[in-house]
Amino acid sequence: MRIEAPRYTERFGAVRINEVQKVLELDSGRARGLSPDEDIAVRKIEEETLKDFEQKLAIAIPIKNEKLKLFEGVISGVPHECLTIVVSNSDTEKVDRFRMEKDTLKQYCHFTRRRALIIHQKDPVVARALEAGGYTDLLDEDGLVRNGKAEGMLLAMMISMMVKKEYIGFIDADNFFPGSVWEYVRCYAAGFSMAQSPYAMVRVLWRYKPKASAGMYFKKWGRVSEVTNKCMNSLISVKTGFDTDIIKTGNAGEHAMSLKLAEILPYASGYAVEPQELVSIFEGFGGVLPFAHQAGAKHGVEVFQIETRNPHLHEERGVGHLQGMLVPGLGSLFHSKLCDSDTKQMVINELVNQKAIRKEEEPAMPRAYRPPTSLNLKKFSTVMKEHMASYYAINGQ
Ligand code: GDD
Ligand code: MG
Repeated sequence: MRIEAPRYTERFGAVRINEVQKVLELDSGRARGLSPDEDIAVRKIEEETLKDFEQKLAIAIPIKNEKLKLFEGVISGVPHECLTIVVSNSDTEKVDRFRMEKDTLKQYCHFTRRRALIIHQKDPVVARALEAGGYTDLLDEDGLVRNGKAEGMLLAMMISMMVKKEYIGFIDADNFFPGSVWEYVRCYAAGFSMAQSPYAMVRVLWRYKPKASAGMYFKKWGRVSEVTNKCMNSLISVKTGFDTDIIKTGNAGEHAMSLKLAEILPYASGYAVEPQELVSIFEGFGGVLPFAHQAGAKHGVEVFQIETRNPHLHEERGVGHLQGMLVPGLGSLFHSKLCDSDTKQMVINELVNQKAIRKEEEPAMPRAYRPPTSLNLKKFSTVMKEHMASYYAINGQ
């Protein structure tokens, strides 16, 4: 794979945010050294290197009642070396959609000899394991894991910690193109191969997000992303004293982290999760507030933003859904200890413009989750281990 070298890096305390890097070649041919001139502007990442990182990478797929055909396409796009972890919150009553997902994954893994896990978010065993591990943050009044994509992601992180993966990447289950899933995962691997710090994050930016209305229009920015990025950049600008537009991936659902980083970040519920990750990094490592983690601060936290070749096409869910994403995302920014009064006003103005809140209102503060290191992994694993075989797609492994 050939990718642009990071041309500019914005520094915010111990955080290094790299400017967007474009994928130049999906396949860069055989291993062969670069000419010294080319090395300045371009990174060539060999297939073997990508595979080495993919082997250490778990791919988490959160799913809730998606079309089975889309799910099937998505799992087929994940490179073979990765461990796929499906966390489902799909219906189990009336039509047992979870059962269908399980069957699909099992059949796929049987024929491709792959390792994958599938687990239901509402599985009582998981709730028991979390309770044993002293991490009841995720549980609701019924004693089961709460609804939400973030909650599914956190579960996948904990399972990845348990099976000792080094990296975790997230891929939505409603993607139309297996080829783009494949590219995202290669971008994750490429990002980690470029990282100088063990505390690294890779966020994907798509070249286009096409809209099908009277033909196909290749739109670059979604409405939600545009607003989130603007407010996030304002927060950084005010703190550093220099205007910046470095953040282009405030909402990136497709993103990956080293588990070393994933473990130490606090998270937010539902769709606030992706903006909150950046807010948590700025709060914990931006140098304005006390550092959240000594080793993390020493190595620094590195954020890569990689622009893919494939356009992003997924299920359309309408305006109500977009507002349902915008408010919590901006809520996480608004309620950050780092958020200044100008940025707060900007958040309110944007939300009022989008008719998401009224003038005198503030966005609610999303539910917060402690970092996964707060979980007693040993106790969690003891409960999970007894049932692990049943979560693997084939042969109990
Ligand atoms: N496990 C689990 N539990 N998965 C869920 C849940 C849940 O309660 N709710 C939704 N999902 C799954 C969906 O099935 C899908 O695979 C994925 O989470 C994302 O949900 P979508 O409803 O498709 O979100 P979106 O397309 O509007 O937004 C996506 O992109 C945004 C950035 O553009 C998400 O990835 C957002 O988190 C992201 O900010
Ligand atoms: Mg979607």
